[in-house]
Amino acid sequence: MERIRIDASRCYDVIIGGGVLSRIGELTASLVKGRRCAVVSDDTTHRLFFDDVRELLENSGFSVSDFVIPHGEESKSTENYIKLLEFLADQGLTRADCVVALGGGVVGDLTGFAAASFLRGISFVQIPTTLLSAVDSSVGGKTAINLRAGKNLAGAFYQPSLVLCDTEIIKNLPEDIFSDGMAEVIKYGALGSWQILNLCHMGAHEHLEELIAECIRIKRDIVAQDEFDLGIRQLLNLGHTPAHSIEKLSGFEISHGRAVAIGMCLMARAAEHLLLCAAGVAEEIEELCRKYSLPTECMYDAESLAHYAMSDKKRSSGKITLVFPFVRGKSELHTFDINELRGIFEKGFLPAISEMF
Ligand code: GLY
Repeated sequence: MERIRIDASRCYDVIIGGGVLSRIGELTASLVKGRRCAVVSDDTTHRLFFDDVRELLENSGFSVSDFVIPHGEESKSTENYIKLLEFLADQGLTRADCVVALGGGVVGDLTGFAAASFLRGISFVQIPTTLLSAVDSSVGGKTAINLRAGKNLAGAFYQPSLVLCDTEIIKNLPEDIFSDGMAEVIKYGALGSWQILNLCHMGAHEHLEELIAECIRIKRDIVAQDEFDLGIRQLLNLGHTPAHSIEKLSGFEISHGRAVAIGMCLMARAAEHLLLCAAGVAEEIEELCRKYSLPTECMYDAESLAHYAMSDKKRSSGKITLVFPFVRGKSELHTFDINELRGIFEKGFLPAISEMF
């Protein structure tokens, strides 16, 4: 078991290990004074885990209610956000009580934003049930819902009180959900850790706890320096600018992890051709994506990608900050004029330099 302390505006532990979910009752009871708890899940995580979670919380003295949303990105909507707030009010939750997010990124982001705004802030616990949410969205306090204009356009920085990551759940995920999360794991390798890249080559299932813990340590160090995403935290967006365009262009048919994989490969190839990055970096990222059944090539053209990236939050006053790998296990930020975006993306459609000779 690993326990990683996150040092942000609220300090909390991320506990990682096989079977740690069994401690949800005692740990939550030690963190909050109230004994009402609303568990938010989607139809899948409700079916698989809710009964156990309810029993564990009830055994620790909680009165438990449940709010269930359909699985999928479309549930991260303004409608569900309002419904959830009304539900929390109807259940009579007070600021001493808490909300539990039992699910992947959609459940975690929606629940976190509701927790941030209900009564101006109520405690919440994250139980990530996908690899993607375990290594990324459940930690660091970014909460959000989608607006018609784009993903995550309304939200808050609001840290959870506890993150419980049960590796037994993650280990047993369906292959496509697991590989979706591997895109974010490879991202952590490319932006900050050649050790993660090595573990990915060796086999993610065999080194799961170590891999998740290493990703969280990188995120911990970045969040400690820049909780509110004004600078270095943007490194965590490696591949995400094209990825958000790809998700939107596909009508969210292409999952976040797959879009991140494509976006990361595209940015790595562009970095090599812009001479911002050592040759060979893009080829390794592509190789790892293929190892985990992730796509590496973009099906939309550079102009469409650039068009949708115009509404990206990371753009300000005609400028956009992009993340580029520059050597194995390290990335850096570069700011460009927004008009250069299409040309940069075009370079990402060329083969990796090491594959050209
Ligand atoms: N998922 C990117 C971040 O937490 O900043």
